[in-house]
Amino acid sequence: MEPVVNPEETAIRIDSHLDGSQERSLAEDVLDGLTRPFKELPPKHFYDARGAELFDRICELPEYYPTRAERAILERTATELAALTNAVELVELGSGTAAKTRVLLDALHAAGTLVRYVPVDVTESMVRDCAETLTEEYPGLRVHGVIGDFERHLDRVPPAIGPRIVAFLGGTVGNFQPGSRRRFLRSIASLLGPEDHLLMGTDLVKDPDVLEAAYDDAEGVTAEFNRNVLRVLNRELGADFDPEDFDHIALFNPEHEWIEMRLRSRREHTTMVRALDLPVSFRAGEEVRTEISAKFTPERLQGDLSAAGLELVRWLTDPEELFALSLSRVVQ
Ligand code: AVJ
Repeated sequence: MEPVVNPEETAIRIDSHLDGSQERSLAEDVLDGLTRPFKELPPKHFYDARGAELFDRICELPEYYPTRAERAILERTATELAALTNAVELVELGSGTAAKTRVLLDALHAAGTLVRYVPVDVTESMVRDCAETLTEEYPGLRVHGVIGDFERHLDRVPPAIGPRIVAFLGGTVGNFQPGSRRRFLRSIASLLGPEDHLLMGTDLVKDPDVLEAAYDDAEGVTAEFNRNVLRVLNRELGADFDPEDFDHIALFNPEHEWIEMRLRSRREHTTMVRALDLPVSFRAGEEVRTEISAKFTPERLQGDLSAAGLELVRWLTDPEELFALSLSRVVQ
C-alpha cells in the first residue's frame, strides 16, 4: 500500500489537548491517594521540569541498566524491525526527548519507508523541540505531534497513513497495575490495523539486589527523583511538605514481581494541602507508595498481550537478558 500523503500538509503539525485537565488530574489523584488507609500517589506526577531532568540523570547512572540495555537491543535489531514492519510511520507514546527513537528512525529512513513520526507526550516543549530537530535531521520527514496524556488522549492519534509501529519504550508499561495494564494494552491495540505493530520495552525479572540497586542508587539521584513529587505538590497544590521529612525506599516485591518506591515519613506530622483544604497526617514510619515498576517474564508479557488481543511476533533481549523489546500485532 502506498502511504497516503497529502501534499498540502506542512512538515510539522502539532495538536495540543492540554486544557487544564492535567492540573485537575493531579488534584484528584492527591485527594484520592492521600486519604486512603495505605497512601499512594501515581508516578506520572514525578515529571515536572526538575523531575524530567532527574530522570535523565537516572538513565546515566551505573546502577540503572534499563536505558542502556534497551538502546543496545534497538541498535542490534532496528534494521530487522524495519524489514519486518515496512513501517512508514512511527507513533511514540511518551516520546520525551526521543533519544532512543533516532535509532529506529535511522533504520526506517535507511529502508526508504519512513514518512511520518507521531510523538505523543504531555510536555509541550519536548514535542515542539523534537519536531523541529527531527524535521531538520531527516529531510522530508513529517512530524505530527500530539501534546497530551497517553492514558487519556490515545483517540487523538491521527489515523495511520500506512503500516505503522506504535512504540512504547523504556519499560513504562510497568508503571500500570496489572488490570489497568491490560486495559491500556487494549486501547493501544485499537490503534493497530492488520499491517501494524506494537514495539514495547519491558524490564525483566532478575536478582532482587540488581533491581533494588537500580532504584536506590549510591549517589541518591533516585531518592531525589522520588522526593520531587512532594515539591510538585507544594508548587501545584500549595502543600507544605518538607521533602527531607521522608526517606526514599525501593523494594522488590517478589509476589507481584515489581519494584515499589515509597516515601517513608521520618516523624509523626501533619501537612496541609491548601488547594484541596486537606490536612494529611503521617505516623512516624508511615509510607506513601509512589511507584510500582513491574518486571516481566516472557510468560507474563504473553499473558498481558493475549488479554489485549495481541500476539508476540519477536522477543528481543540483550545478551545478559536484563531487558526485552517485544514486537507484537493484533491477533488476526
Ligand atoms: C520511566 C517508568 C520506566 O520504572 O524504571 C526510574 C521510572 N523510577 N527510577 C522505571 C523510574 C525510578 C522508570 N520508568
